[in-house]
Amino acid sequence: MDTSNDGLISPVWTRYTPIVAERAEGAYIYDRDGTRYLDFTCGIGVANTGHCHPKVVQAVQEQAAKLLHGQANIVFHPPLLELAEELRTIVPEELDCFFFSNSGAEAVEGAVKLARHATGRPNVIVFQGSFHGRTALTMALTTSKTIYRVGYQPLPAGVFVAPYPYAYRYGWSPEETEDFCLREVEFLLETQTAPSETAAILVEPVLGEGGYVVPTPGFLKGLRRICDKHGILLITDEIQSGFGRTGRWFAVEHFGATPDIMTMAKGLASGLPLSGIAARRELMERWIPGSHGGTYGGNALACAAAVATIRVIREERLLENATRMGTHLMERLRALQAEFPSTGSGHRPVIGDVRGLGLMIGAEFTAPDGSPATDLAKAVGKGCLERHLLLLTCGPWGNTVRWIPPLTVTQEQVEEALVAFKDALTEAVA
Ligand SMILES: Cc1ncc(COP(=O)(O)O)c(C=O)c1O
Repeated sequence: MDTSNDGLISPVWTRYTPIVAERAEGAYIYDRDGTRYLDFTCGIGVANTGHCHPKVVQAVQEQAAKLLHGQANIVFHPPLLELAEELRTIVPEELDCFFFSNSGAEAVEGAVKLARHATGRPNVIVFQGSFHGRTALTMALTTSKTIYRVGYQPLPAGVFVAPYPYAYRYGWSPEETEDFCLREVEFLLETQTAPSETAAILVEPVLGEGGYVVPTPGFLKGLRRICDKHGILLITDEIQSGFGRTGRWFAVEHFGATPDIMTMAKGLASGLPLSGIAARRELMERWIPGSHGGTYGGNALACAAAVATIRVIREERLLENATRMGTHLMERLRALQAEFPSTGSGHRPVIGDVRGLGLMIGAEFTAPDGSPATDLAKAVGKGCLERHLLLLTCGPWGNTVRWIPPLTVTQEQVEEALVAFKDALTEAVA
């Protein structure tokens, strides 16, 4: 660990660790002293193919020697065209047209701009606990924590918030939760944003920053039905849940619902900055040419990395590995949940809930009275860091530990992480 020159970097970046990462390989990050850390954060769900996958590195190196930047308003380049072709084979088949930008927030903001032009309507419905980015519009679409908005209000208008089916938080059955949440969307359309003024419903198919919440089984299909009834577009934000994270290319595939517009970033290019929007060409043709764009979107190096990423995920059968390792990790976390009842009355487990799909898994810590155990989650995270395991938290109270190892993770690495986690938990509850 090396924290020299820290003062030159803005403190607006809160930091989980003081590590200065010199290099990384697969599931491991090495600092300047050569200390090795098992990285179960993946740079927040980015390094899905593992850090510095040789095929991704090679694709970037080869492309760097040919063309670094070809601005899309001036020229197209082969990696851009190849990426569109590769994406065509993995996104829902209705989505046959692509736009590229750099960050997740840019993609979401672009998707909302597209929806507004395509429908001629201004408003958007989002969900409680959503995280869509930090630009002015995406802050307005984000409701996972007030820290993302504090001091920046008022934010752009035209955003309406409905509840996400977070059954554990409500303490209701999945059926009751789903019924309530879908009725609340209809209620918003009845009371606050008229269908004729609602361009889109924007949803994370698995809630990311908001707590790694898997929606109830019929929720996305229910949203699809509501959208179809009112001529509203369904936008799914797959920025955290996409590119194999949940054991499928995209999380929507688990729920049998097809979006009109989909956003992607993070795992798309294994660490190079790239984001994208997929939609039906017929919608893209309603987006007024020249009304959206950017200097770097679809950068040649990033597109080459993305093409290699898709091929690696396919060739190395990483979707299958994500499913297999995810199932194993969930079973082991549920066993730990049973092993660590709280000392409070009723012996409620300190790990109140373990949930997830594939390798997008959350373990939510609760106090004996059922309230969020934020300090415990923090202490466990700190204990894991001391044991050279990197884990992040999420959720409104920061009491959910999120497990996002690379999709290349082995069973031995999962076990290595669980040993550190159990030790840290044992120490924290002692
Ligand atoms: C679901 C989702 N959407 C959008 C974003 C914003 O992406 P970026 O930080 O690249 O702007 C994130 C980032 O965590 C995300 O998880």
